[in-house]
Amino acid sequence: MPSMLPGAPWLLAHKSMLRVDQPRKISLYGEDYVLWKDAAGAIQALPNACPHMGAMLSAGWCEPQNGTSAVVCPFHALKFDGAGCTVLPGTNQTTLSLLKPLELIIQGDLIWSYGGYEPKVPIPDVLNQIAKNYYFVGHTADLTVETDLLTMLLNMHDYNHQNGTHRDLFRITDIEFHQFLDHGHCSHAFYDMPTAPYSLLEKLKQPSVMLLPSLIKAHLENHFPSLVIFHGEMPLGKAAQCHIFVPEAENRTRTYILLFGQAKHPVFKLLGSTYLKFGKVVVDQDADILGKIYPDTPRKIKLNNEVGMDWVRRNFESFPAVVEPNLSK
Ligand code: FES
Ligand SMILES: [Fe+2]
Repeated sequence: MPSMLPGAPWLLAHKSMLRVDQPRKISLYGEDYVLWKDAAGAIQALPNACPHMGAMLSAGWCEPQNGTSAVVCPFHALKFDGAGCTVLPGTNQTTLSLLKPLELIIQGDLIWSYGGYEPKVPIPDVLNQIAKNYYFVGHTADLTVETDLLTMLLNMHDYNHQNGTHRDLFRITDIEFHQFLDHGHCSHAFYDMPTAPYSLLEKLKQPSVMLLPSLIKAHLENHFPSLVIFHGEMPLGKAAQCHIFVPEAENRTRTYILLFGQAKHPVFKLLGSTYLKFGKVVVDQDADILGKIYPDTPRKIKLNNEVGMDWVRRNFESFPAVVEPNLSK
């Protein structure tokens, strides 16, 4: 269990990822839950296995009940309210709770949970600040990778994998590492990535590549363990690409992107779906390489600029305590 860091907060979803009255399966710490959103935007979460004969409630549907909605089991149509109570056929009485609701912490559109564990690490406030100062562009690349949380986080904090994993997309020619600021469970990394130019023909074939600058200036804001924000600044506007991580099980980790923008020029807003597509390609490439790694291979080589990964390993080992920050450079 320590490999999934109990006591950390996990962002299960942005409310826009749930359709009204459409149950959705969410996994955390090896347990499955059904989440649903009523017409007023209220969120409920119950264990996903129906207490009658175990059908997945997430495969069922929702029906209005008492000003909110209840989830209906797809097998024999028992209807459960957000407290996990039902009314058995032929009776007029509501049962006691048969399913213990998953505790959620809702902050605006953000749905957080500690998965039933005692909180040891606070929820980072940064996403509330971003939600206040940026507009929400959308979500993308919601996928589950057959890998453990540590391996997933190492990939996200690996500043050298652009040349391999993301070679096709960015053509990054170099990594110019500038600064790493270690504040314990929060850190910042600043680096520049020059890219090789695209030919005119390539631009004509695929105009979206023109959005890529000749120098990608990266500022990564990291909040251990659940969140990495890639801050991008372009002439037309600013973007905050938030990478979210959720430990679904020991060897299954979910990731997705929430994208926020700040337009300096109205045209910027038209580019939202293009940036979402880029984000999806990046995550797909990461998922692909994560499926092609032998776990537990002894490391005999260390490259430059692995400080982000050192930060992940240190925080993992000392979790939930924060050791004296010692990696700034
Ligand atoms: S299994 Fe859910 S109602 Fe029977
Ligand atoms: Fe990557």
